[in-house]
Amino acid sequence: MKERTRRGKLIVFEGTDGTGKSTQLKLLHSLLEKRGLPVVATREPTDGTYGQQIRNLYVNRHRYSREEELELFLADRREHVREFLTPNLDEGKIILCDRYYFSTAAYQGALGLDPETILQQNDFAPEPDLVLLFQAPLPVSIDRITTGRGDTLNKFEQREFLEKVAAIFAAIDRPNICRIDASGSIEEVHRQVITAVAALLSLHSTALFSLN
Ligand code: TYD
Repeated sequence: MKERTRRGKLIVFEGTDGTGKSTQLKLLHSLLEKRGLPVVATREPTDGTYGQQIRNLYVNRHRYSREEELELFLADRREHVREFLTPNLDEGKIILCDRYYFSTAAYQGALGLDPETILQQNDFAPEPDLVLLFQAPLPVSIDRITTGRGDTLNKFEQREFLEKVAAIFAAIDRPNICRIDASGSIEEVHRQVITAVAALLSLHSTALFSLN
């Protein structure tokens, strides 16, 4: 069974837009690198063929039905699993992945598709060893998108839509999920991330912190 022979670790970063997960992924990546650990970073949507089509959804979302949109995310993930995730896990890498199938359940679920069915449709994808689920009150994450990044909300980020996304994330219950309170400072959130990752890698979190 593929899960049993796997040597690497898959750590995924999930949450609504503006919860700071991408910032936290970068911080953890550089910390693990400094420790000499074999870490690689990736993201979904990917930069592959399907990922690029998905990024077009930001501007032309109405051209796709929600079913077509779901198919695109699944096709992107199949390619990602085949070409990046499985080979890197087989080589013993620690993979940090910005978004994974929990985002599909939450975002395409918020369009009206059934989140549990979406999770089942992803059973081809390796199960993460750890899911860091970033949660912050919606006004905080929206403020980070608009003030922090100087952006307006894109089609995926409209307030009511994000409320539904956050509610689905909050309701997903899996043993590998570690909920991160993302409302604090970058340093506070980083400490929570380190604690969870150190436990997974059987390292003392103080050893990770000491290189900071
Ligand atoms: P995001 O991580 O915000 O990308 P970036 O900041 O690099 O542009 O992801 C893009 C959007 O895609 C995000 O709003 C969530 C959405 N998304 C889905 O709707 N379904 C999915 O399965 C994934 C992986 C992402």
